Amino acid sequence: MSTTEQRVAIVTGAARGIGAATAVRLAAEGRAVAVLDLDEAACAETVEQITKAGGKALAVGCDVSDEAQVEAAVARVAAELGAPTILVNNAGVLRDNLLFKMSALDWDMVMGVHLKGAFLMSRAVQKHMVDAKFGRIVNLSSSSALGNRGQVNYSAAKAGLQGFTKTLAKELGKFGVTANAVAPGFIVTEMTAQTAARVGMGFEDFQAAAATQIPVQRVGRPEDIANAIAFFTGEEAGFVSGQVMYVAGGPLN
Ligand SMILES: NC(=O)c1ccc[n+]([C@@H]2O[C@H](COP(=O)([O-])OP(=O)(O)OC[C@H]3O[C@@H](n4cnc5c(N)ncnc54)[C@H](O)[C@@H]3O)[C@@H](O)[C@H]2O)c1
Repeated sequence: MSTTEQRVAIVTGAARGIGAATAVRLAAEGRAVAVLDLDEAACAETVEQITKAGGKALAVGCDVSDEAQVEAAVARVAAELGAPTILVNNAGVLRDNLLFKMSALDWDMVMGVHLKGAFLMSRAVQKHMVDAKFGRIVNLSSSSALGNRGQVNYSAAKAGLQGFTKTLAKELGKFGVTANAVAPGFIVTEMTAQTAARVGMGFEDFQAAAATQIPVQRVGRPEDIANAIAFFTGEEAGFVSGQVMYVAGGPLN
């Protein structure tokens, strides 16, 4: 591939939130972006934002936890946009509960989307990266990987993604492929709005309370995470691999 050729990125869970901001950011950097989410129609807004700004984007409906759907989605991206060599495993769900109330279904759902989803997507895309001798994989971990009450499923999945990332970095490094993880703290999205509702707080109050615990004294925005992801996907970041970057407005214990 010549360096002037446009690289193709896939961002999962890109219909809204951190994924949407990341898709927009990568497109602004000149990538052609597959905006992938459960429902193709829900991707339209992100795609429109990219194309209106002069970028190239494709809406792709896919459940990342379904092997056949993932294989078909990656094949479609390769056919319609070109071989994907940047992958952001961002799709995610919460099924929070205290351990004694957590169902096996809620455990499986969270593992399925975060861990199996990242595995299936990475496996489907790696052949294109190996062929191109270039690849950038970024996995969304979380500050919850360090442990968080009510999230045994989610924290286990997010800690698991850190091990997954380091192993990808070791296996794929010789093919010019890097793998890194971004671990956000509190970011204003529908996911944190859901958490506020679960604990019975208004979202504004929930954000204000969270901000007092964050060294920079504010909550994060999706663009804060997109910025870190853009760094890891950059052409010049080829010697940075297997890292976990906490993006949380301060250090975490
Ligand atoms: N918001 C935060 O504070 C925060 C903090 C740490 C980590 N994260 C992580 O960042 C990522 C994005 O979070 P967000 O806050 O933007 O969430 P969000 O709920 O706003 O968006 C998640 C997106 O993923 C999609 N999705 C869910 N299941 C899917 C599946 N099976 N296949 C394809 N798409 C699917 C949803 O439809 C949605 O569009 C997640 O992995 C999340 O765990 C978020």
